[in-house]
Amino acid sequence: MDFLEEIERRRTFGIISHPDAGKTTLTEKLLLFGGAIQEAGAVKNNKIKKGATSDFMEIERQRGISVATSVLAFNYKGIKINILDTPGHKDFAEDTFRTLTAVDSVIVVIDAAKGVEEQTVKLVEVCRMRKIPIIVFINKLDREGKDAFDLLDEVEQKLNLKVVPLSFPIGMGYDFKGIYNIWEKKLNLFSGDIKQTVSDGVEFNDINNPELDKVIGEKWANDLREELELIEEVYPSFNKEEYLKAELQPVFFGSALNNFGVKELLDCFIEIAPSPQPKMSDTRLVDSKENKFTGFVFKIHANMDPKHRDRLAFVKVVSGIFKRNTNYLHVKKGKKLKFSSPNAFFAEKKEIVDESFPGDIVGLHDTGNFKIGDTLTEGEILEFKGIPSFSPEHFRYVNNADPMKSKQLAKGLDQLMDEGVAQLFTLDINGRKVIGTVGALQFEVIQYRLEHEYGATCSYENLNVHKACWVEPEYENSEEFKEFKRVKQRYLAKDKMGQLVFLADSAFTIQMTQEKYPHVKLHFVSEFK
Ligand code: G4P
Repeated sequence: MDFLEEIERRRTFGIISHPDAGKTTLTEKLLLFGGAIQEAGAVKNNKIKKGATSDFMEIERQRGISVATSVLAFNYKGIKINILDTPGHKDFAEDTFRTLTAVDSVIVVIDAAKGVEEQTVKLVEVCRMRKIPIIVFINKLDREGKDAFDLLDEVEQKLNLKVVPLSFPIGMGYDFKGIYNIWEKKLNLFSGDIKQTVSDGVEFNDINNPELDKVIGEKWANDLREELELIEEVYPSFNKEEYLKAELQPVFFGSALNNFGVKELLDCFIEIAPSPQPKMSDTRLVDSKENKFTGFVFKIHANMDPKHRDRLAFVKVVSGIFKRNTNYLHVKKGKKLKFSSPNAFFAEKKEIVDESFPGDIVGLHDTGNFKIGDTLTEGEILEFKGIPSFSPEHFRYVNNADPMKSKQLAKGLDQLMDEGVAQLFTLDINGRKVIGTVGALQFEVIQYRLEHEYGATCSYENLNVHKACWVEPEYENSEEFKEFKRVKQRYLAKDKMGQLVFLADSAFTIQMTQEKYPHVKLHFVSEFK
């Protein structure tokens, strides 16, 4: 297979949802189709959830939530599928946002009974901003849920999407009969017997065929005919170009747990979802089909293997072929690095690979060279854009609780921040360190990991900060900026990159500050230039 074919056959995507909508279950069923796992009932004992992804960190197992973002790859009908799993827990939303910089499309899972939930709204918002193509999967049709048309309306309104149903349920909950696949004009019937099995469905090109009445009964057949007519009237017809431009979003219905409607989703996905896309750098747009390798780090995972205290940097290959034992330029450090054992990910395993293509994720063992967002190239000086830090929501002073271990604490904090677990700010006035996180849970994670991985102990002290605002003066030497710095001295800090940050104690303060110093811009995202 040549280079271009390798690119064409890759689909790198993420599954996003509110916790409990069925992301893990769907992921597992997709793996099942790829033959990547054998056992249909693996969800029941939660092998994927509590095994593969969670073994990376002990704390995760304790809490039973998916802290880690892992990569699951498999082949299906000649297509190489890379799923970038994302933590559902809202406290780890930033992890998910970063992962979204490495996907070419997403599947959004929605619980049919709960409809569109809070976390989904936030994540889809980010996808819309980045114009990521989205497919919606409405899950749990085997349970009583909201009316299918109401769900479509909700998705359209709450998520601000333009939906096109490509499948439609027949009944729901106790009366769930099956799904009509509008995309392939096929009928898939649901019954207790075929639970967990893969059936190809019956072709029903003509919905008016009287056979349909025999198969699902006259009432259901008539209802379906009416509903499909309505769909044709109300919704636009599917257009792949619009989907790829993120202007239109196909919707599938199903039940991940029962493996129902999943194959339809996957078959359509491999046909319409984009292969690796070009990515913008600070100097130019880099096309995946370019021969020279480029890639960027979107995730760092520390101590995946407790026996070998190592870090793994997850690199998305943007262009060219990443080769083992080859020198690449770490652009930010201006340093050449060579990797003797790059990992590729297959289902729940990782193995050493010689070559990786655009769209693939390579895991590089790291001894502290990488930070989130770093770019690797064959020598070209360019850096990929788009892994911003968002303003944290929770802030605390961090103190060293064991004076004998200050070095360990500094090292631990440094590395955890490189991984993007939280953000560290150093106050200008007294050099005190402040940790900012998206969720309160991270403070515990940090404390636990400092102790278990670095042998350091820390304590926290409350600090009244509402938001961190990155400061951008219009004129560095203006009197206005000097006054701002003098008046706000107590609240100014530096982030890890040395950028000036204003730690504002309330929304009101931010508003007043903006009014008083109109030429000093305040940003809620670290990357604003
Ligand atoms: P998440 O990753 O989005 O957080 O969700 P996950 O897949 O873990 O699913 C959450 C719960 O919803 C699980 O039940 C799962 O079995 C169930 N579920 C997923 N898909 C369907 C579906 O199509 N129909 C029904 N009825 N349930 C579904 P649990 O009881 O929390 O866990 P478990 O013991 O079943 O693993």
